[in-house]
Amino acid sequence: MIRVFKDPDELLPALADFVTAFGRESVRERGRFNFVLSGGSSPGKLYELLTTPAYRSRLDWTKVCFFFGDERFVPANHPDSNFRMAKQKLFEPLGIVENRIFQIDTSREPEQAAADYEGRIRKHFQDSPCRFDLVLLGLGDDAHTASLFPHTPVLSESSRQVMSVFVAKLKSQRITLTVPSINQARQVCFLVYGKNKAPAVKKVLEGDRNPAELPAQLIKPEDGTLTWFLDEAAAAELKQVK
Ligand code: 6PG
Repeated sequence: MIRVFKDPDELLPALADFVTAFGRESVRERGRFNFVLSGGSSPGKLYELLTTPAYRSRLDWTKVCFFFGDERFVPANHPDSNFRMAKQKLFEPLGIVENRIFQIDTSREPEQAAADYEGRIRKHFQDSPCRFDLVLLGLGDDAHTASLFPHTPVLSESSRQVMSVFVAKLKSQRITLTVPSINQARQVCFLVYGKNKAPAVKKVLEGDRNPAELPAQLIKPEDGTLTWFLDEAAAAELKQVK
């Protein structure tokens, strides 16, 4: 499903409504809400919105377990760290306790960090499938999502939940959830706004299928719902909004 809003001021509250409503449903039905956060800059305002009085009272945040869709391989206090951004904008304002945050440990070697994160995810889900309730994703100008970048080995991973990947064009080591991990989720939401994203949105949603070049095309929940939350600027090149 594609939902288009005039601008971020309309888009972000709509997504905050969606996240908190599904969070309440998850807690009601399963006793907890397994929420995977996106990195980058787009979600920062959403996280801040979730901590305002209008939203913080809508969900029992003590029942929320926070995961990361991906992490840059930098120290946790580095300006590029997705954990650092979430800590400042979400965890500290909401008083989230440490054992509810599944932080990717970037103090280890990349492969070890990936294996450790996967181990903690699997332990969290015990013997049941690692089925996150909601995975929040962004979209890069090159149509990457999480750290699933074009023409990288992680795109073809079919069994592991987490992998480390070196992104040559960014000269950046990353840790990322894999496609099968994301596609097991109950809800996957893309949060994409701004005119610079319009070409990538067009290619992913209406272009030829070419997942090696457009990794976001790989995101198709097996038994879940995919919703694109776009503003008009990011949706500007779409022929049809379904
Ligand atoms: C990351 C993100 C990445 C991000 C896109 C969009 O760690 O960078 O997980 O997938 O969502 O690159 O980033 P912006 O929101 O900054 O445009």
